[in-house]
Amino acid sequence: MIAPRLGRHAVASVFRLGSCQFPVNQQSLRYMSKLTSRSVVTSGRMKMPVFGLGTWQSPPEDIDTALKVAIQTGYRHIDTAYSYQNETAIGASLAKMFDTGKIKREDLFIVTKLPMIGNRAEDVEVFLRKSLENLKLDYVDLYLIHIPIGMVNRGLNVIFPKDEQGNLLIDHSTNIVEVWKAMEAQVDAGRTKNIGLSNFNQSQIKRILDNCRIHPTNLQVEMHIYLQQKDLVSFCKQNDITVCAYSSLGSPALLTVMKHRGFSTEGVRVLRPMEDPLIIEIAKRYNKQPSHILLRYLIEYGVVVIPKSTNPSRIKQNFEVFDFELTKEEFERISALDRGEEGRIFGGRGNKGNFRVRIEGSLCNFRLVL
Ligand SMILES: NC(=O)c1ccc[n+]([C@@H]2O[C@H](COP(=O)([O-])OP(=O)(O)OC[C@H]3O[C@@H](n4cnc5c(N)ncnc54)[C@H](OP(=O)(O)O)[C@@H]3O)[C@@H](O)[C@H]2O)c1
Repeated sequence: MIAPRLGRHAVASVFRLGSCQFPVNQQSLRYMSKLTSRSVVTSGRMKMPVFGLGTWQSPPEDIDTALKVAIQTGYRHIDTAYSYQNETAIGASLAKMFDTGKIKREDLFIVTKLPMIGNRAEDVEVFLRKSLENLKLDYVDLYLIHIPIGMVNRGLNVIFPKDEQGNLLIDHSTNIVEVWKAMEAQVDAGRTKNIGLSNFNQSQIKRILDNCRIHPTNLQVEMHIYLQQKDLVSFCKQNDITVCAYSSLGSPALLTVMKHRGFSTEGVRVLRPMEDPLIIEIAKRYNKQPSHILLRYLIEYGVVVIPKSTNPSRIKQNFEVFDFELTKEEFERISALDRGEEGRIFGGRGNKGNFRVRIEGSLCNFRLVL
């Protein structure tokens, strides 16, 4: 199946120019349907910038420089999560930038996520309030349920509660519909503008759609050239849910992080999309880096990207994807690199820390790596 392409000719209904940056002159009107660094995807009233900065594994001490460089470069979307344990550093950095007047709160799109230890109705407000306190914000633009599986709450700082044998303490009573109702209450209270989902499969999303008062505006899932999730993307488009790709560069540091955190790496699929021969060939043609081709492909596919980096030159470099365009043939050849489930990096393959659970009627394979 060729991915639906949302690049040059078909973007008008999906991508619109952001509100704040370019004066509308003849030139910007001429390129209105083209992708720019201010392009957004929309769902209802939400306008989500197509390019954001990922922050998982970003050490707190590197955050201030990374955010400053990103915002100077033009990033307007920051992806974070309670579980990344670096919201406080992000909040401190943002507060400094707001104080200088270099950027205004309303010019940024900030996402954070409900941790697994907060996956019960009564905990949603507690964790969102805590994230807002960490981030020094009155509201976030998007609050996601990070993962549809809950874990036992052993305290706000115990992100991965374990029993004495080292097994993760899964809360098998997780009810995602009840959690969603509590998420809706956060929109009512003004603590978040929009709510959405992450790591949900189609049947779990359908459970939310069938039972929601406030529509989910976004789904964040693993996505890159080897795991293109075409059915899931089509399903989301049909249901007016925007999609954000995580690990779009293949999360090259994943193995190192897992080892560092004491997880077994047995059976982990190591994929290197930046080393794919086709990606290298196309990158050379445009005098670009392989990372540019990976990111540009996904944006043309109609999906938001949030590559993580704390390296100033890579932060700047990654953003340089708006000055070239893939041809139809290149787009189709990259589309054909999809390996389906064989391309999944974050999967459930027998190693310690993996578990298989039935939640709300759907079976999840899940390996905890966060
Ligand atoms: N919802 C979820 O469950 C979930 C799961 C995973 C990730 N996420 C989000 O998605 C974001 C991105 O995913 P990810 O962090 O897994 O992986 P990624 O963005 O695919 O890769 C990030 C890694 O690539 C390196 N890198 C960045 N740009 C590069 C370039 N141009 N050339 C070579 N290496 C480069 C970074 O190192 P340097 O920092 O040294 O540049 C970092 O180690 C996360 O940060 C997080 O915000 C969400």
